[in-house]
Amino acid sequence: MSNKKFHLSEEGTDTSIELPVLSSTLGQDVIDIARVPETGCFTFDPGFGATASCESAITFIDGDKGVLLHRGYPIEQLAANSDFLETCYLLINGELPSDSEKEAFEQTIKSHNNVESAVEQFMSGFSQGSHPMAMLCAVVAAMSATYNDTTDVSNADDRMLTVNRLIAKMPILAAMCHRHFSGLPYVSTNNDLSYAENFLNMMFGTPGAKSTVSPVLTKAMDLIFLLHADHEQNASTSTVRLSGSSGANPYACIASGIAALWGPAHGGANQAVLEMLEEIGDEKHIDEFILRAKDKEDGFRLMGFGHRVYKNFDPRAKVMKESCDEVLAELGLEHDPLLKIAKRLEQIALEDEYFVEKKLYPNVDFYSGIIMKAIGISPEMFTVIFATGRTVGWISHWNEMLSNPYRIGRPRQRYTGYAQRDYPA
Ligand code: SDX
Repeated sequence: MSNKKFHLSEEGTDTSIELPVLSSTLGQDVIDIARVPETGCFTFDPGFGATASCESAITFIDGDKGVLLHRGYPIEQLAANSDFLETCYLLINGELPSDSEKEAFEQTIKSHNNVESAVEQFMSGFSQGSHPMAMLCAVVAAMSATYNDTTDVSNADDRMLTVNRLIAKMPILAAMCHRHFSGLPYVSTNNDLSYAENFLNMMFGTPGAKSTVSPVLTKAMDLIFLLHADHEQNASTSTVRLSGSSGANPYACIASGIAALWGPAHGGANQAVLEMLEEIGDEKHIDEFILRAKDKEDGFRLMGFGHRVYKNFDPRAKVMKESCDEVLAELGLEHDPLLKIAKRLEQIALEDEYFVEKKLYPNVDFYSGIIMKAIGISPEMFTVIFATGRTVGWISHWNEMLSNPYRIGRPRQRYTGYAQRDYPA
């Protein structure tokens, strides 16, 4: 509890209530508004721009300073020194693993590296060319049929089993979505490979053949998963928390997060960025698109720019941009026309008064698509990759919520419809 207090009083009456302030470790303290209904009013905050929906110890973001911490560790340091599975362990357990704990965790994940044959049958129901996000959302929801009797959300061991199953199975399902979308046979998971190499081999490998995935692409893929792992109470994580608050099956909750992530304002932006860069096509067209982005009458937005929280650089975008340069140079693609357009677009936007005044900077989605395209991933798969990385964040928040006292989420509204009226006689 902070020593600060607020008083809410109504002008002209003696209505006044005291609102306590709860202190946070970092960032803004919060005003406990539980007593506000005593005034006869609700608070009103469409889009939740000023609302803390929960307590969490997993991730901290300082949007003004461009800071992102996972359990206190800066994303830049995790990107430089850790890997995706170690970061998964950190997000779930709150501490970095010892060498033996990391080895045990990796073995646990490998022990769940399979999907039921019913999943292949389920996937075959989609016509070839179905959007991979549609397939992923459905097949993860379908897992709630398989794991409906071994998931007691009130049991900590069952919850950890769910956490480990999802981290292990998401890359397999994601690769299956790509292979089915492309009309290719599935490539089996291979426990001799690292998490990222196994994923790329399932995506691009040949059934039964040894992996030929390069270490450069493996490192880039692992970094992409790591940078997407978690991001506080974003739209999809909030969706998972809200659906989880009713005690729903966790696989159904993750499917709801996948659905929320798909939108172009959220995780779908990475595919939209690449489509935008391809539509721009040449640096000489950039000014035209900048004008369109500033034109209120034109629905066009500069995809990969702007963020609800970051009013400074998205630290993930900086790391992604460095990795972009490395991967494309390693692949001899440093002159990739899309990369050149992206860099020029960023430079122009960052000097333009509109973007400066509105504090619109590149976000995590701006460069990720260029790396994924260089790796050979098709744009339809970009948000599937985002979902595969973010699953650990979703399920960590789900587990954190269920590990503590919680209530079902049930927001209220500002009603602007008809007053009561009678059905015509
Ligand atoms: C992700 O929340 C998270 O943490 C998300 C995420 C995560 O890891 O989970 O970080 C991942 O979703 C990143 C964001 C990806 N989306 C995009 O790149 C799509 C393009 N960006 C926008 O649509 C927008 O910036 C949002 C959705 C990201 C943020 O929207 P807000 O906070 O609701 O801001 P807004 O729409 O109210 O915009 C404020 C102003 C508006 O102008 P005014 O009405 O004040 O005159 O800025 C303008 C907007 O028109 N604006 C843009 C713009 N983004 C905002 N103008 C042009 N191009 C843009 N991209």
